[in-house]
Amino acid sequence: MDAKEISLSEKKVKPVVDMLNDYLANYHIHYQKLRGCHWNIKGQNFFTLHIKFEELYTNAQLTIDEIAERVLTLGKPPHSRFADYIKESTIKEIDTIGLNDLAMVDAVLEDMAKLIELERDLLEASDTAGDDGTNDMVNRFMQFKEKTTWMLRSFAGKK
Ligand SMILES: [Fe+2]
Repeated sequence: MDAKEISLSEKKVKPVVDMLNDYLANYHIHYQKLRGCHWNIKGQNFFTLHIKFEELYTNAQLTIDEIAERVLTLGKPPHSRFADYIKESTIKEIDTIGLNDLAMVDAVLEDMAKLIELERDLLEASDTAGDDGTNDMVNRFMQFKEKTTWMLRSFAGKK
């Protein structure tokens, strides 16, 4: 499989593929952080956040698969090793043990802001490459996190 099989220039699409692989790495670290929050949440908001974090990591898991398969559709192998994810990701791992509920929400909001930033870069790069498929996919993922950002901020009583 090569980008030219779907009428895209391999050369033009190269920066998009590289960015998608970085994006995939960041998403994996974010995913594992959500799992940690789901497992280690304590206190009065346990029932609300335990379920919310599960909902978010389930969404992240599906998103991860779509990103990786988009990389393959564009003719390249996606990163699949944790060593690569840790190396490539700008989002960093945190220890969720002992983290209070609102600090967890803040950590998730921080990741989402970073992911949205990467998505805006990807929207620009995929637009330049004429890669509407990637553009549409990333736009969908971004809108989900934009809305989730509003909801998490409301939950935390932020403006
Ligand atoms: Fe669970």
